[in-house]
Amino acid sequence: MRLPCFGTYEGFTHAIQLAIRSLNDSYARAVCALEKTRRIVLDRRRFRVFHTEPKRNGEFTFARLLAAAIKSTFDSLVFVHISFIQLGGFMQLGYIGFEVTDVDAWTKLGTDVIGLMPAGENSDGSSSFRMDDCQQRLFVREGPADDVCALGLCAASTQQYEATLTRLTANHVAFETMSAAAANARGVERLVRVSAPYDTPIEFATPLRLASTPYTSRYSGEDWLTGELGVGHALLRLPDKDVMAKFLVDCFGFRFSNTGNAPWNGHDGAQVAFMNCNARHHSLALATVGERLPQLAGHFMLERKKVDGVGLTFDRVRKAGLHVTNGIGRHTDGSLTFYTQTPSGFDFEIGAESFLIDDDWKVYELSSYSLWGHEFQPARLLS
Ligand SMILES: [Fe+2]
Repeated sequence: MRLPCFGTYEGFTHAIQLAIRSLNDSYARAVCALEKTRRIVLDRRRFRVFHTEPKRNGEFTFARLLAAAIKSTFDSLVFVHISFIQLGGFMQLGYIGFEVTDVDAWTKLGTDVIGLMPAGENSDGSSSFRMDDCQQRLFVREGPADDVCALGLCAASTQQYEATLTRLTANHVAFETMSAAAANARGVERLVRVSAPYDTPIEFATPLRLASTPYTSRYSGEDWLTGELGVGHALLRLPDKDVMAKFLVDCFGFRFSNTGNAPWNGHDGAQVAFMNCNARHHSLALATVGERLPQLAGHFMLERKKVDGVGLTFDRVRKAGLHVTNGIGRHTDGSLTFYTQTPSGFDFEIGAESFLIDDDWKVYELSSYSLWGHEFQPARLLS
């Protein structure tokens, strides 16, 4: 199909309508809402990446048409906001859960320091936090592990959910279908617990439900970069990263963004695989540590839309007297971040400006993880 020539908003809208009509794959039910806005909702590069991403599965040439339409539209300075629903290709790390011994300390950290929106108590007793319009992005539950207890991979659609379960079965990977109550506590319709290497607590779910009330940022101007990109990323400390990487590729279609063998936190050659499942550079980072450690979690990262949100969080971390494990620095994935110890011993990382990737991204091995900064201060031992 050839796109018609359009240099106006009306022409653009017509092109989108034609593109939708050309979409004869019923699997992809795309709903596009177009509106003129007075500002650019996302920058041009981000738009391009977002909307070319689904074509990686070879299912959505539609997205390529839209990408061309968006490019032309920006060139003609008509600002358009496009929302896709159930476009099918984006999987995301939708939520993260932690089992912690000190829920009160975590709640104070999450709300007062990090700036998450508290969302009450779930039916399973866990404490819920929001970062956007989704019902839940993080939760903490009381228990002895002081570790990550749920890595919630969320499908982009029910169809993708079903297809992935079939894929798990084909790969001889067991999974347990969780109850409606358990799914409800995660803020999803359907949920399975997957048997993953090293007992990694991977859950797989249908898309996150939207909350019934609007999201309000705890601190003005400190919004999170989430949406189709997911909650952020988690770094897992594993006996062998390659085992988990193969699992993620085979079962969930993850791809490598980078590998690394570089100095980090006093280790000469920290081996890490950075894995993506959407345009975020990595949703899971896998570090080989050669043995089974008491804690799987190395750190988890949440990303601000603006770098000022990183600095403002850093100020609150210092004011709260928390231990900064790595000072502010710029990673080789573009992100400006810092790391702080959680009450459970592992770290959280707050950042902004990380790269978004697309099909043109070339995988390469990193020889350093930071361009500057990230000065290491060994974590305090917790009693
Ligand atoms: Fe990180």
